[in-house]
Amino acid sequence: MHPKKLFTFFVCSCCVSVILIVFGTLLICFTHIIYEAILKGNLVLQPGSSAFQVWVKNPVPLYLKLYLFNWTNPKDINNHTIKPHFQKIGPYTFYETKEKTNITWNNNNTVTYKNMKKWWYVPEKSNGTLADTVISVNPVAFSAAYTVRDFHFIVKKTFSGVLSSMVQTVEAVRPVGDVLFDGYTDALLSIAAKLPFLSKNNIPNMDKFGWFYGRNGSEDFDGEFNIDTGRSDGKIGELERWKFQEHTPYYPGKCGRFDGASAGDFFPGNLKKDSIVKMFSSDLCRYVELEFAEEVMIHGITGYKFIAGQKFLDNGTKVPENKCFCDGDCMPSGALNVSNCRHGSPAFVTLPNYYSADPYYTRHIEGVVPDKERDEFYMIFEPMS
Ligand SMILES: *[C@@H]1O[C@H](CO)[C@@H](O)[C@H](O)[C@H]1NC(C)=O
Ligand SMILES: *[C@@H]1O[C@H](CO)[C@@H](O)[C@H](O)[C@H]1NC(C)=O
Ligand SMILES: *[C@@H]1O[C@H](CO)[C@@H](O)[C@H](O)[C@H]1NC(C)=O
Ligand SMILES: *[C@@H]1O[C@H](CO)[C@@H](O)[C@H](O)[C@H]1NC(C)=O
Ligand SMILES: *[C@@H]1O[C@H](CO)[C@@H](O)[C@H](O)[C@H]1NC(C)=O
Ligand SMILES: *[C@@H]1O[C@H](CO)[C@@H](O)[C@H](O)[C@H]1NC(C)=O
Ligand SMILES: *[C@@H]1O[C@H](CO)[C@@H](O)[C@H](O)[C@H]1NC(C)=O
Ligand SMILES: *[C@@H]1O[C@H](CO)[C@@H](O)[C@H](O)[C@H]1NC(C)=O
Repeated sequence: MHPKKLFTFFVCSCCVSVILIVFGTLLICFTHIIYEAILKGNLVLQPGSSAFQVWVKNPVPLYLKLYLFNWTNPKDINNHTIKPHFQKIGPYTFYETKEKTNITWNNNNTVTYKNMKKWWYVPEKSNGTLADTVISVNPVAFSAAYTVRDFHFIVKKTFSGVLSSMVQTVEAVRPVGDVLFDGYTDALLSIAAKLPFLSKNNIPNMDKFGWFYGRNGSEDFDGEFNIDTGRSDGKIGELERWKFQEHTPYYPGKCGRFDGASAGDFFPGNLKKDSIVKMFSSDLCRYVELEFAEEVMIHGITGYKFIAGQKFLDNGTKVPENKCFCDGDCMPSGALNVSNCRHGSPAFVTLPNYYSADPYYTRHIEGVVPDKERDEFYMIFEPMS
């Protein structure tokens, strides 16, 4: 090679190297920003985006494990020295699919949709069969009794007479399959559907009782959601409206707001240890606040574990903001009164086996023992994404 050409080549190589070094250094300095830019680009909900694919139909297999409590001593109900005894049975395991339907893209950077869930029984992951008999507290008779509890005593006496004449017992003896998805008919339900004071809320699926009756494949059960697409402000997945309202009618004041809570599919990035993760649940008609508990390692990736703690369970004694969730009288911590969310029937939600709740609840019954490992509610997030 000619020395002059060699020199030019040398200079060029140097320039290229310097440029590469500068570029590389910049890249190292700005990985975080570049990473975020790419992440943000993918985290926009629009037809065809990668976020859309996982959102519209959940690609991860989900299993719902249900346990029931078999009430073993209903015959002793009138003996106040004997506590009700419960035996846990299950799990009855169901494969769950989640799909978004009736998707409407709005021009205010939001999308409106409905949630459709379906379940299939998985015998090989279950302990027992759907034909097993379970004895529960008769939910229909108890709901009816709860509804008339504040009425005049003459009404209550009459009602009590009606209940006994209809051979309504304190316990309901039914197959597990009926209690969960299939539902069972009850003479009292048929009558209640005709009573103006019970049917005023226009309760759907009132013909049968079952914890999941009418939910399998229903598009309407969870209500209509309106969430942010993340196009304008990066707030992807934040709930804006539910059932076309920006405030639920079920809880007063702040407790009825959505407050930027996740609708359940996307969660904010850049989590810190003092962050609060807010997640809306249509089963509770409210959002739930999760707080940081610990760092955990999963497949070599650091995760932040967020749990349902005081902010979720306290009755307003330690966390005053929770007072408006009480719905009338506050109860000992650890149980949420979701009656308003369930058409006025006496419905309360706790963590499994009354975990983390006031010992008041387990003191009055036998056979229910909470356990942290098994019963804690948690979600683990990769903090940056
Ligand atoms: C209630 O149960 C206790 C303990 O089994 C028994 O000794 C008592 O006689 C029972 N009382 C009534 C009224 O049945
Ligand atoms: C299956 O259920 C029975 C009681 O119904 C219980 O004794 C047993 O431990 C359960 N097995 C598993 C694997 O959960
Ligand atoms: C689908 O959504 C649109 C707009 O939200 C609504 O007008 C329409 O009635 C819905 N269709 C069905 C079948 O629910
Ligand atoms: C966006 O527009 C849709 C359709 O008009 C509406 O239903 C929804 O409430 C709007 N959302 C917000 C946050 O304004
Ligand atoms: C739910 O509905 C599907 C049909 O859409 C049916 O195949 C399945 O057995 C149902 N699951 C339950 C638990 O009833
Ligand atoms: C529930 O209890 C009843 C009465 O003790 C019993 O016949 C039934 O087999 C129990 N169910 C299960 C699944 O263990
Ligand atoms: C639960 O909430 C309902 C509806 O607001 C209310 O009527 C009822 O008294 C509450 N129950 C308890 C035990 O606080
Ligand atoms: C609220 O919860 C605390 C702790 O469980 C309990 O001591 C207190 O009595 C509860 N308040 C009411 C009004 O029930």
